[in-house]
Amino acid sequence: MTNLSAVIRVSIRGAPCFCLDTTEKITIITIDMVNMEKEELATLYDISQIINSILDIGVLLNKVMDLVIETTGAERGFLMLKENGKLKTKVARNIDKRTIETEISNTVVNKVFSSGESLLTSDAKADPRFSSSDSVFLYNITSILSCPLVSKGKTIGVIYVDSITKKKVFTKKNLNFLQGFSNIAAISIENANLTSKLKEENVVLKRAIGDRYSFKNIVGKNKKFKEILNVIERIIDSNVSILLEGESGTGKELLARAIHNNSQRNKKEFVACYCGAMPETLLESELFGYKKGAFTGAYEDKKGLFEEAHLGTFFLDEVSEIPPRVQVKLLRVLQDGEVRRLGETKSRNFDVRLISATNKNLEDELKTGKFREDLFYRLKVVKITLPPLRERKDDIPILADHFLKIQSKESGKHVNKISNEAIRALVNYLWPGNVRELGNAIHYAVAMARGEEITLEDLPANIVNPAEEVKSIKKLREWEKEIILRTFKECNYAKVKTARVLGISQRTLHSKLKKYKQGGDYGT
Ligand SMILES: Nc1ncnc2c1ncn2[C@@H]1O[C@H](COP(=O)(O)OP(=O)(O)OP(=O)(O)O)[C@@H](O)[C@H]1O
Ligand SMILES: [Mg+2]
Repeated sequence: MTNLSAVIRVSIRGAPCFCLDTTEKITIITIDMVNMEKEELATLYDISQIINSILDIGVLLNKVMDLVIETTGAERGFLMLKENGKLKTKVARNIDKRTIETEISNTVVNKVFSSGESLLTSDAKADPRFSSSDSVFLYNITSILSCPLVSKGKTIGVIYVDSITKKKVFTKKNLNFLQGFSNIAAISIENANLTSKLKEENVVLKRAIGDRYSFKNIVGKNKKFKEILNVIERIIDSNVSILLEGESGTGKELLARAIHNNSQRNKKEFVACYCGAMPETLLESELFGYKKGAFTGAYEDKKGLFEEAHLGTFFLDEVSEIPPRVQVKLLRVLQDGEVRRLGETKSRNFDVRLISATNKNLEDELKTGKFREDLFYRLKVVKITLPPLRERKDDIPILADHFLKIQSKESGKHVNKISNEAIRALVNYLWPGNVRELGNAIHYAVAMARGEEITLEDLPANIVNPAEEVKSIKKLREWEKEIILRTFKECNYAKVKTARVLGISQRTLHSKLKKYKQGGDYGT
């Protein structure tokens, strides 16, 4: 994230310089302060603090102008910025801070802008430099002071002040001051412009992300998959907790985000917590937050993710990995609808829609005692099991085509077809990594493609050579068979014990034993 705050350090004792840390670059601005009084320096410093804290460009420009008029004693002030190659007046003020619509001397501002040099005249009408300037005579301008706005070596605009009575005659001191001021203002203006650009970009990006996770980008016409989308459509705006089960890469997070983006909660955050990736204490402090000093390293108060997700959607990914102690806490928090930060006595209410995901079978985890039953029922008011890709092979061609469109757009290569042979290979493959693996395979194939069509030879080798794949699956089966039968024997053919030792459900064990023709009559 870009750091937009401009840090200003003023060295009063040594070589006077302003160091403005803007965005990624350090800009050193040297200001001729030899004749500047300490008081003026202090004013300049105060001003710099004020204008560097304003990031709204409109507010900033007005503030800059008011400060210039106030500190120079000018009667009128104008601030112009270069836009589409032309200087455009952004603020025009008189001494009462009122916006005015009068003309200024274009001769002066153009000169200052093109030369990048400041200009001072105490008697404009007598100054030979302006003898041809109509406006000087027309508006009866007496004294003028003008400085370029220079940021990172580029002139971005001009500040111009004048006086039309004889009351105020600008001096060298005023010029000196305005030069320093303009340098600071120019950086602030650049920062504010950058902020508004980033804000606009942010809106566009959010829209793009919203699109990515809209249901129109979730591909699938398989009957089972369509039924899932149907269920989701019915519960999208209710607050029921949803548990998404499915192998890795089947689209659990994609669905969770689409649910959020299409629900009434979409104005608020989608907050995700990847429970499997964190040690117990970190997970606890992430979920519930903490108070400053609650433990070593808690340097300041921190909101937990439940609070962050307030009024939005909270996605608990890899929920089966939550350690037992945190499961207890989580259950209490969900039952009470309030959360207490670590080290704090005060409770805070929250309102979140909870979506959890796991690539394990949570019911199996209940039986082995790894997951609490009461928490399971809290999380799975609606349980959705996403089928592995090998069980929805009819979706492979349209998913491949979907990824092809994305990849050819992103790579700029005009690959727009997949040969029949290649499609056949894709459909025959078993996809242990599911839709994610298919997306990666198409990414690879688009990179390899030499023409407009993806051919068999552009696909990753393991997909093209199913014999190898079958061999490895065969190996896997043999290995599974051996482990199951050996454990079964070691457990004296007791099914309950065998299932517990293997960490699978009795139902799964039963079907595996049947498959390996050893089940049925054995054990209890
Ligand atoms: N039906 C689908 N249509 C389009 N893209 C999909 C679909 N399902 C999954 N994907 C894409 O596949 C990739 C993996 O999906 P996602 O991250 O949601 O899987 P996951 O189930 O959360 O996996 P994991 O358990 O490994 O975290 C993502 O790039 C996602 O956009
Ligand atoms: Mg995921």
